[in-house]
Amino acid sequence: PAKVEFGGDRQAGIATAQQDRLAFAAYDLTVDGSPEQNRDALRRLLKTWTAAARAMCDGRPVPGENKLGTAPPADTGEAFGSKPANLTVTIGFGPSLFDKRFGLADRRPAALAELPKFAGENLDAESSNGDIAIQACSDDPMVAFHAIRNLARLGRGTVVMRWSQLGFGKAATTSSKQETPRNLFGFKDGTRNIHDAKTMDRWVFVGADTDQAWMRDGSYLVARKIRMRIEAWDRDFLTDQQNVFGRHKYTGAPLTGGGEFDQPNFAAKNPDGSPTIPVGAHMRLAARENNGGVQILRRAYNYTDGMIAASGELDAGLFFLCYQRDPRSQFVALQRKLSAHDALNEYITHVGSGLYACPPGVGDHEYWGQSLL
Ligand code: HEM
Repeated sequence: PAKVEFGGDRQAGIATAQQDRLAFAAYDLTVDGSPEQNRDALRRLLKTWTAAARAMCDGRPVPGENKLGTAPPADTGEAFGSKPANLTVTIGFGPSLFDKRFGLADRRPAALAELPKFAGENLDAESSNGDIAIQACSDDPMVAFHAIRNLARLGRGTVVMRWSQLGFGKAATTSSKQETPRNLFGFKDGTRNIHDAKTMDRWVFVGADTDQAWMRDGSYLVARKIRMRIEAWDRDFLTDQQNVFGRHKYTGAPLTGGGEFDQPNFAAKNPDGSPTIPVGAHMRLAARENNGGVQILRRAYNYTDGMIAASGELDAGLFFLCYQRDPRSQFVALQRKLSAHDALNEYITHVGSGLYACPPGVGDHEYWGQSLL
């Protein structure tokens, strides 16, 4: 029970019912040989990581223990006795992996195009990008952390961790069986996320039409670390907060009425003629009805990094993760519009960013990224 199968045609951790906790890390390769040597090193790393991830998801320690005790333990040990608690470990490759170092430039998918600059963002290079990203999700925070820590350890000499983020309290649902959780603004988040397999096939997983066959059944991850000014938000009137999203705070229902899952009426007007769901409402701007049908799979987590010493405000926000088959027509198109018009912008700033090509899943004797290498 409470185990998610690691192997399969598609990686776990994308369509998987969203777990409560996140440990995310991005790593850079430190190799400095010829492209062939570097690719060999990458292949070795991915084989070792796949075996470790497979074991951890199955609730077993990282393999390779030296029985004589004359080497450091193969597994760091803090998750001994813990159940996997639905652990999934998902890998993605950043655009930088396709530079000169590995000779993989001709295998770079067109969809892995650098994200453009967006209005109002203030990105910190120290929490952005990376050659490889790992998303570890579990209902047990120790188990999620244990996964990224052990991969970092196994990769020592080949990779260094570039940045990482812990997330608590999922802020989306990926299944209609889950109750909608709340983000740090106190609103239900994930109400109109993708919750069914057919829509995931259409909008989340790469199909036969890809320019790079190795990405078939993979997906593209966009990560955005979004700081939220929660103190300013907490002073804002309830009606204004609701107008920012276009939804009622307590029930999650659209401002045009009904229950949480009822269809919003974007044409409805107030008695004074203004739209009931305001023109700058986050939901109106992001909804598929107003974006040529475009959808993304949101898999966000709340985060806090403690306090900002200079102001005494909480350093907190949303670690926004979303999966899609082509970021150019999905995340980028939506974010262009949101960054220009969203009423939410008064209260948020994007401070970190990453884009990663997540390869297909692994069979019993395969390793992550085998189709690429
Ligand atoms: C909907 C919060 C950033 C895309 C929502 C909803 C909330 C919310 C409360 C309504 C409930 C729901 O359907 O889930 C936030 C917060 C953000 C943020 C607090 C930043 C801190 C983003 C970003 C994107 C995005 C960066 C994509 C570029 C969407 C989409 C919907 C949505 C597609 C569904 C709209 C619909 O179909 O009704 N968000 N969001 N959000 N958000 Fe965000």
